[in-house]
Amino acid sequence: MKQGRKSAANHETITDRKVDPDILTYTVGEDTVLDLKLAVWDCMGTAAHATMLTRMKTNPPVLTRAEAEAVKKELSAIAVLALDGRFSIREDDQDVHMAVERMLTEKLGDLGKKIHTGRSRNDQVAVDVRLHVKDELLRMSEERMDLFDALVSFGRRHDRVPMAGRTHLQPAMPSSVGLWATGHAECLLRQSANFEATYAMNDVCPLGSAAGYGVPLPIDRELTSRLLGFAEPFHNVFGASMARGEVEASLVSSCAQTMCVLSRLAEDLILFSMPEFGYFRLPREYCTGSSIMPQKFNPDALELVRGKTAQVAGLLSASVGILHAMPGGYNRDLQDCKLLYMKALETTRTTLRIMTKVVRGLEIDERRLRAGFSPGVFATDAALRKVAQGMPWREAYHDVRDHLERLESEDPDAAVAAKTHLGATAGIDYARYGNISRERRAACRRLLNSFLACRRRLLGV
Ligand code: ARG
Repeated sequence: MKQGRKSAANHETITDRKVDPDILTYTVGEDTVLDLKLAVWDCMGTAAHATMLTRMKTNPPVLTRAEAEAVKKELSAIAVLALDGRFSIREDDQDVHMAVERMLTEKLGDLGKKIHTGRSRNDQVAVDVRLHVKDELLRMSEERMDLFDALVSFGRRHDRVPMAGRTHLQPAMPSSVGLWATGHAECLLRQSANFEATYAMNDVCPLGSAAGYGVPLPIDRELTSRLLGFAEPFHNVFGASMARGEVEASLVSSCAQTMCVLSRLAEDLILFSMPEFGYFRLPREYCTGSSIMPQKFNPDALELVRGKTAQVAGLLSASVGILHAMPGGYNRDLQDCKLLYMKALETTRTTLRIMTKVVRGLEIDERRLRAGFSPGVFATDAALRKVAQGMPWREAYHDVRDHLERLESEDPDAAVAAKTHLGATAGIDYARYGNISRERRAACRRLLNSFLACRRRLLGV
């Protein structure tokens, strides 16, 4: 095996400069761990770059086709290691980029040393992040639809079961379990728009911007962008370098907003499963106990959803904080955007899965739901009956308001059935939800398949 150049106390093997160990540790930060998530994407980006180098019209060629094939064979082996969780980054590598280059050089000698021609770690990491984010976004979309479907099927199962609608948490108007559940489902669905915006922003290739100023070589940025499955390359290379951190912040923002939806759902579940309400029952195995109070079944998981939502909002604030005063061009602050987006993604995806599980296990107590209908809940309906008999609305309102003691309990089922207009308790279109879910899932699967096909073409995995 040919060896890369080595020095005695080499803290930086690739650039061959010695860095104070404390400074090195501080600047490497968590990259030796975080970058593991980027390893397969780093191989993919490098494979595209290698292919491009062979097509570059220079004499002599920077890389021959045979050399590129040898590099890609090694990249493929490294990608397999990464996918199996057997890839590791040493502190003296600093990051995944130099770890991969080191491994290539260990296997291929001088050939490995050619691979970084015409690029910088700045465009390399930017490309890795975008490939990783694309993969994550497409997988998360499935998880979002899983929760959407779980809420819709819970709603359909208990569609017309009466549930007092609340404003200010006070009993307000007749509503239904179907309306409650599909209302939350629609909140989640609306979040897709944020992720789609992040996806579009992410689908642009920064490779070839190098350190942010391009290179005096005839590199083909259209080619690498196409090979990697991006919609297009960035035009301005300096602008491309400044896009680092932007997509991460957009992603964290989308995550924070989705977490708000999940947190409000969690809060409703905590509230309505309290013994004082008793509308819903959480499966006992989804609750945790107390070390002193034997009777306890606490909704800890749902409480953590609330707390983690605050944390993801904090990650958003940190992302914007890193960007807001940074001068143009690459600055090392950007490295920490990785930590923030990875944490936000992980928290949001895990929370989506947990909430899906909870909703799938949720049961209702019809008796308690019906008991939530105090006479006051029917007050607006009573006023509207007067309007139907010809009384002007404001008069009908005062008539009911002045004699609240006359309000009587009514039939909640009839009240639920009486609201037949679009999207009301008796007007929920479940077929529409089914179609939306099928279409979104199919669209994401198509995108993921074509993206993974690019990876297979480049790496064979
Ligand atoms: N780990 C670094 C990051 O995430 C890679 C880029 C380093 N570039 C540099 N000029 N020091 O930002």
